[in-house]
Amino acid sequence: MCGIVGAVGHKQCSLVLLDALKRLEYRGYDSSGISTINKGAIALKRAVGKIVNLDAALTESPLEGDIGIGHTRWATHGGVSEANAHPHVASNRVSIVHNGIIENHREIQQRLESAGHHFSSDTDSEVLAHLFVEAFDSGMEPAIATQQVLAEIEGAYAFALMAIDYPEMLIVARNASPLALGIGDHACYIGSDAIALSHLTRKVVYLEDHDYALVRADGVSVYQADGALVDRKAMIVAASPGLVDKGGYRHYMEKEIHEQPDAIGHSLAAMTDENGHLTAQMPDDALRAIDGVVMLAAGTSHYATQVARYWVESLARVPVACELASEYHYRQPATKPFNTAIAISQSGESLDTLMAMRYAAKCGMNTIGLVNVPNSSIAREADTVLPTRAGPEIGVASTKAFTAQLTVLLCFAVALARAKGHIDNSQASSIHAKIQALPGLVGKALGLFDVIRPVAHQLSSVRSALYLGRGALYPLALEGALKLKELSYIHAEGFASGEMKHGPIALIEDDMPVVALLTADHLMGKASNNLREASARGAKIILISDAKVAKEVDYATSVIAVPTIDPLLAPILLAVPVQILAYLTAVEKGTDVDQPRNLAKSVTVE
Ligand code: G6P
Repeated sequence: MCGIVGAVGHKQCSLVLLDALKRLEYRGYDSSGISTINKGAIALKRAVGKIVNLDAALTESPLEGDIGIGHTRWATHGGVSEANAHPHVASNRVSIVHNGIIENHREIQQRLESAGHHFSSDTDSEVLAHLFVEAFDSGMEPAIATQQVLAEIEGAYAFALMAIDYPEMLIVARNASPLALGIGDHACYIGSDAIALSHLTRKVVYLEDHDYALVRADGVSVYQADGALVDRKAMIVAASPGLVDKGGYRHYMEKEIHEQPDAIGHSLAAMTDENGHLTAQMPDDALRAIDGVVMLAAGTSHYATQVARYWVESLARVPVACELASEYHYRQPATKPFNTAIAISQSGESLDTLMAMRYAAKCGMNTIGLVNVPNSSIAREADTVLPTRAGPEIGVASTKAFTAQLTVLLCFAVALARAKGHIDNSQASSIHAKIQALPGLVGKALGLFDVIRPVAHQLSSVRSALYLGRGALYPLALEGALKLKELSYIHAEGFASGEMKHGPIALIEDDMPVVALLTADHLMGKASNNLREASARGAKIILISDAKVAKEVDYATSVIAVPTIDPLLAPILLAVPVQILAYLTAVEKGTDVDQPRNLAKSVTVE
C-alpha cells in the first residue's frame, strides 16, 4: 500500500507534494513525510498520524527546494513511528520513498551492514536507499545503478529516489505496484496514481512492470529491465476532481451512500448499448463461448462476486467460482472448467486481485476487469473492461462501488443469459426495466436514516452481532458483518441462515442482535424458520427486508423496510440499509468512519 509522489522542476515543490499526498491518503494514513533537496542538502519532514500532522509540521517550518518526494504510509515492516515513516535517507545523500514489500530485505541489510552501512529504521524500504549509495559509490551512473539495484531486490515495489549527486532528476521504478509519471510544462511529477497529479497535469505515462525511469524537469526517459530505452506513450487522463469534498455531508461514507442512485444509474448506462439493450461489452459470439467463469476479488468486491454467482448460474446456467484473490493462484487451482476470469476491484489496483488475474491469463483464460477506476492496472491489463461508474470513492469502506459492481454484474448475467439463449429478449427487457427502476428505489431507501438511527444506537453498545441471510442474501450478510466490524470495531459474523443449526446457533444468548436479511424468494419460508429458531433462543432480530416481507414477519424486534422489490434485485437494494446501519453505529461509537484504524482503501501489497 502507501502512496508515493514526487516533483522535479516545480518551485517550492513541498506544497504541491503535500496536496498530492492528500489525494493519496486513501492508500494509507499512519504516517507521512516529504523530503527535498535544498542548497545541496536533503531536507526532511516526517510526522506520525494523518497528513494534517505533516501539514502542520510544514506550516511551522516549510521545506525549500524544487525537487522532492513524498509518502503516505500503511505500515508493513516496522511499527508506526517517525523513524519508520518515509522518506528514508542514507548517508545524507540519497532519499527514497517506497510502496510495496522488498521480500529479501533482511539478507540485503545484513550484507550492507557488514559493509559498514548504518540503518535507522525497521522498514524493508530503507535497503533501497543504501543500495543506491553503494551503487553510486562504485561509480555507476543513475540508469546503470538502478538496473543493478533492481537485479538484487525481490518483491513488489514502486519507488522514487533523489540523490545529492544528481539533483536534477528523480529515479523511479515499478514492479507490481502502480506508478504514474506526470508530464507538465516545465516540471515533471510522479504519483501512485493519476488522481494524485490531477492538480498538476493530465498528461500521464504509466510505467509497466520492471520499467524504471529517470524523471527530469523537461521529460522522462523510461527503460525496460534489460536497460533498453523504451517509448511508453503518454496519455491524457480524464479530468479528475482530485480532492473530492464532502459536499456538506459529515463523512465521505455518508455522501457516498447518498450517491448510489447516480452510481447505479450511470453504471447501468455503461452496460446499455446504442439500441437500449443490456450489453456485456463484447460480441454475442464471445459471450456464447464463455463456459465457466472464475471471479477474483478481495474484501467487499469479493462479496459482490458471491452475489453475482447466484445471478450468472441461475440466469445463464454458466458455472461460477468465486475466489479470494489472495488465495487463488497460490493453491494451484484446477482451471479447466473455466475459460473466463473476471477481476472485480473498485480501485483496479488491489495487488492480490491483479496477481490472481495475471495467473488466470497465464492459464489461458480470457480476462475481464470490472473496475471503478479507468486506467487502473487491472483495467490496462484485462482483455475486456466492464466499468462501474460510481465516481471516486474516498471512504475506506466501499459502499457505492459495491452496489455499482452488483448492478454491472447483474447486467452481465442478463447479457450472457440472453446470448446463450437461456432467456429471451422479452425476459431480458423485463429484468432491464427492473434495474432501471433501482435508482429510484435506492433513493427511497435513503430515507431510512431516521428509522435506522435508534437501532444503531442500541447496536453501538453490544460486543458482538450476527448477520444472517440465505441464497443471494447470504453474501450480503457477510458484507454487512464486514461493514459493522471494520467501521465500529464490533465483532460481527455473517452466516448462511441454514447453517446456524450446524454450529453458530450455540452463540445465541439473550438479547444477542441478529441482523436478518430476508426477501420473498423461494427460500423465504426456510429462512424464516431459521430466524425463528434464533429468536426462540433469545436473539433480538433486526429485520432488513422489503415492505411486503416485513408485513409477514412476526418475530422481529426491529424492522427496517425498503420499498417492495423483486427478489432478484434484493441484494442491491437491501445493501443500502445494511450500509446505513453500519455507518450510523460507527457514528454512535465515534470511530473514524472514513479512515478506520489499520485499514487502507487500496491495498497494493500481498
Ligand atoms: C480494501 C478496502 C475494501 C475493499 C478491498 C478491495 O481492503 O478497505 O473496502 O473492498 O480493499 O478493494 P478493491 O479496490 O480491489 O475493490
